[in-house]
Amino acid sequence: MFAQRLAQVAPSATLTVAAEAERLRRAGVNVVDFSAGEPDFPTPEHVKAAGKAAIDANFTRYTASQGTPELREAICARYKRDYGIDITPAEVLMTVGGKQALFNAALALFDPGDEVITHAPYWPTIPEQVKLVGAHPVIVPTDAADGFAVHAEAMIAAITPRTKAIILNSPCNPTGGLVEESTVAAIADAAARRGVWIVVDLCYEQLIYEPVPHNLPKVLFDRHRGRTVLAGSASKSYAMTGWRCGWTIAPKELTTAFNLIQGQSTSNITSITQKAALAAVSGPQDAVTAMLNEYRTRRDNIHAWLTAHPAITCVKPKGAFYLFPNISELLSPDGLRTSADFAQALIEKEHVVVTPGEAFDAPGYLRISYATSMEQLREGATRILRFAESLQPAKASASS
Ligand SMILES: Cc1ncc(COP(=O)(O)O)c(C=O)c1O
Repeated sequence: MFAQRLAQVAPSATLTVAAEAERLRRAGVNVVDFSAGEPDFPTPEHVKAAGKAAIDANFTRYTASQGTPELREAICARYKRDYGIDITPAEVLMTVGGKQALFNAALALFDPGDEVITHAPYWPTIPEQVKLVGAHPVIVPTDAADGFAVHAEAMIAAITPRTKAIILNSPCNPTGGLVEESTVAAIADAAARRGVWIVVDLCYEQLIYEPVPHNLPKVLFDRHRGRTVLAGSASKSYAMTGWRCGWTIAPKELTTAFNLIQGQSTSNITSITQKAALAAVSGPQDAVTAMLNEYRTRRDNIHAWLTAHPAITCVKPKGAFYLFPNISELLSPDGLRTSADFAQALIEKEHVVVTPGEAFDAPGYLRISYATSMEQLREGATRILRFAESLQPAKASASS
């Protein structure tokens, strides 16, 4: 009855878990919700004010589908300021969040039968969008033992004559890992030799905790500019998830193709959002720094609290706002067999909502969003530890 392409695509597991949390909350249950993939902070005041001013000034009509020239100029200025790269407004297109940025890339670049390489654990939308356009995701696993590092050799080894693109996500949702500059350089060189596109999801680019070199735009522009797509978003850095603002930075001809797709689908992103995004991108950045500092403190606390349990191990995230602990030692054939079972039982017994690793192609793990208050983190950690204790009293007390 429906189009065949739907048979390939899985629903968003992260949204399903969030809906379960909402259902419990409405039923009056005291839920601790660690599923949210969005900041708990309000949008910064000056950004909200710009949105309100846009309405009052009747800036409420269609704009160019690519986005207003002033906003695209501001994106160019920001990438010059942050990364030292020169781009022109003709290479920028404003999208309905980073999701549409990536989907435009999938629609414009991937044909049925093409292979698209990415790394796991991954944000599920990445492979699902590849499938939606009839292409095949090729998944290269990474390992918690070395901090979920993406290795260039493994990515390059996955290239075949059918490979159309490589999608990288750094900082990574769900692992919080960064793809190192040297890795991206090696991948870019191989991609350049094989005519393969590189798409980088930079959704969390401003949420990196330690000052490490991470200028992926420059590395890619120096080596492979003609076939690089950068996908950005205002959602996480500026606490603007509901405004729906993202962008692509891509060669002019490809940006024209994106604009063709968008002109026949959504047209421009909301005019009001564009004014707010202009204030976000070109105004003071103190709010971004303040949120980052708060996320860092939360990360350190929740990481310490959970890893105090002998059966929970966890790589400390370098960016984004998710903890990705391994709880496989708490699973057993005659108890909770999978991390999905674990997450379900955790909701039922302790009313703590987390996303099971299965959603990210990483069974045995849980994703915990720490974009929530310290009180909630403390309470949730207490409940998770109590739950873990109830599963493995002998082991936990033997080693404590
Ligand atoms: C890795 C990653 N990329 C892109 C996005 C897209 O976010 P948005 O469409 O709100 O910009 C998300 C949102 O959760 C994400 O986690």
